[in-house]
Amino acid sequence: MEDGISSVVSAVGVSRHFHIAETGRGVVGAVRSLFSRRGRLIRAVDDINFEIPAGSFVGYIGPNGAGKSTTVKMLSGILHPTAGRIEVLGMSPQTHRQAVARRIGVVFGQRTQLWWDLPLADSYELLAAMYGVPPADAARRVKRFDDILGIGEFMDVQVRKLSLGQRMRADLAAALLHAPEVLFLDEPTIGLDVVAKAAIRDFLREINTDGATILLTTHDMDDVEQLCSRLIVINHGRLVFDGSVPELRQRVGVPTTMHIDFVETPASPLPDLNTGIKVAGDGKRVTVTFDRAQTSAARIIAAFQDRGEIRDIEISEPNIDEIVRRIYAA
Ligand SMILES: Nc1ncnc2c1ncn2[C@@H]1O[C@H](COP(=O)(O)OP(=O)(O)OP(=O)(O)O)[C@@H](O)[C@H]1O
Ligand SMILES: [Mg+2]
Repeated sequence: MEDGISSVVSAVGVSRHFHIAETGRGVVGAVRSLFSRRGRLIRAVDDINFEIPAGSFVGYIGPNGAGKSTTVKMLSGILHPTAGRIEVLGMSPQTHRQAVARRIGVVFGQRTQLWWDLPLADSYELLAAMYGVPPADAARRVKRFDDILGIGEFMDVQVRKLSLGQRMRADLAAALLHAPEVLFLDEPTIGLDVVAKAAIRDFLREINTDGATILLTTHDMDDVEQLCSRLIVINHGRLVFDGSVPELRQRVGVPTTMHIDFVETPASPLPDLNTGIKVAGDGKRVTVTFDRAQTSAARIIAAFQDRGEIRDIEISEPNIDEIVRRIYAA
């Protein structure tokens, strides 16, 4: 830890390996593999180091299978590292699991910590009791979560009947009921529509402004751009980038793609834009790849305005895989 910087989450040389037994074919093979030591070693997380200061909002990104969830499970004490040391709020989440659990909140977008068969309100009551939150404090917090997340309207609905977006909002509120200082979120916006995503982003921003340190795993580049001041990228278990979004842009360029659909195939040649901007025409559709840090979308559209009537414009941000690929190519 550096002088003067108090880091609330720290990982030093952390690895987690999984041994996958090679299952032989047929019954004999299956029996034999029970006794054989042969198999495959998966380095899900491989010698990772980072320090997260209090109040940070860190995006933890990487392609499928990169090791993100494995990291979150280790940080929250669910899994033990094969090697290395983890500290959360100055404690090992493995050896001080209870003490750490009281001060962190964890959401796995793919799972729920709510009671499936009970009305949502009952889950909050149970969680408050488990964490020793006084009922008045719990009620005040639930009210506040309702103001931002709108969970009040399904408070008496059985959790199993909630839609994905409702359930995710409910799960976030549950993770925050005991006012944790640190939040680990593993894909809390997965599968949500834009409205639900926006509500969750507003909420997370507010929680972070109030002082909570957040580590967020996501495949959504908009989540990262709108929320995270720092980005840690992992691939094949290894840390490949740690810095801000502008630093990432500077290092690899983060290209935006714009499709411009014309009513008629543009007759005149396509405009020659700055270097670094790629223009490709295919009939009525023109595709432009550019860096939003260098050029605005409006400038590009202006350059095409006299080529014909524009029917539609579609803009897509790069996905995480593309960014990771570029980190390697850089
Ligand atoms: N319990 C386990 N046993 C064996 N292998 C595992 C186990 N858990 C994870 N792995 C492997 O470790 C690697 C990392 O998995 P992890 O779930 O951490 O990836 P991820 O970055 O969260 O991916 P995604 O974006 O798909 O959620 C994968 O190759 C996965 O198959
Ligand atoms: Mg995962």
